Amino acid sequence: LVRYYCAATLDGYIAESDDSIDWLTSYEGHFEEADSDAGQGGYEAFYEGIGALVMGSVTYEWVLAHGGGWPYAGKPAWVLSSRDLPQPDADGADVRVVEAQVPDLIDEMLQAAGERDLWIVGGGNVASQFADHRLLDRVEVTIVPVVLGDGKPLFDRRLAGGPMQLIEARAFSSGMVGLTYEVRRPAESESSRG
Ligand SMILES: NC(=O)c1ccc[n+]([C@@H]2O[C@H](COP(=O)([O-])OP(=O)(O)OC[C@H]3O[C@@H](n4cnc5c(N)ncnc54)[C@H](OP(=O)(O)O)[C@@H]3O)[C@@H](O)[C@H]2O)c1
Repeated sequence: LVRYYCAATLDGYIAESDDSIDWLTSYEGHFEEADSDAGQGGYEAFYEGIGALVMGSVTYEWVLAHGGGWPYAGKPAWVLSSRDLPQPDADGADVRVVEAQVPDLIDEMLQAAGERDLWIVGGGNVASQFADHRLLDRVEVTIVPVVLGDGKPLFDRRLAGGPMQLIEARAFSSGMVGLTYEVRRPAESESSRG
C-alpha cells in the first residue's frame, strides 16, 4: 500500500508557511506524560508497517535540521529534488535524492518496501503527485485541534476520484483524532499496477 500519513490542523495545514510545526510539537508536548498519539501506539504501530519512505525536499531539509539525527535509519528513503542535497550524518541512513516523475519511481519504491508499505511523508504537493497518477491508496491524518488560517496544505490540489472511504477513526485521549481513509481507484488502474 501507498500511505500518506501525517498530522494536520483542523483546517488542513501540515506546517506554517515558514515550515514551523510548533502547533504540533507544543500540543504533543502537553501530553507527553499522559497519552499522546505516539503513547497510544499510533505512530509506532504505523512505522512498524513501513518498508520505504518518500518525501519532498522541503520536508527532508526540515527533518535534517530538526530531526535530531536521521529518524528513518534502516529504511530506504527517496527525496524528490532538483537540487543536490546533503546526506544525513547517521549510521544506517539510506537516502536517495532524485528528480523524477512519481510513475517512474513507483516500482522501485514498492519493491524496496517489500511486504511492507510505502510512506509518503509529505508535503502536500508530493501527495498530490501520487494521487494524480492514482498511486495513493490511503490517507492517514492525525487531526490536531488547532486552526492556523494559513500554511502548507495537506494536499495542494483537488483529489480526483470522488470522496474517500473512511476505514478507521481513532480518538486519542490527547484530543487528537486519527482518521484513515481509503482512496478509491478506478478498476483499470488496479490491474495496470499488477
Ligand atoms: N504535519 C506533518 O505531519 C508534516 C508531515 C510532512 C511534512 N511536514 C512539513 O510540511 C512542509 C511541507 O513543505 P512543502 O509542501 O513546501 O514541500 P515538500 O513537499 O516537502 O517539498 C517540495 C519540493 O520538493 C521538490 N520536488 C517535489 N516533487 C519533485 C519531483 N517530482 N522531482 C523533483 N523534485 C521534486 C521541489 O523542490 P526542489 O526541486 O527545489 O528541491 C519542491 O519544491 C514542511 O515544512 C514539512 O516539514 C509536516
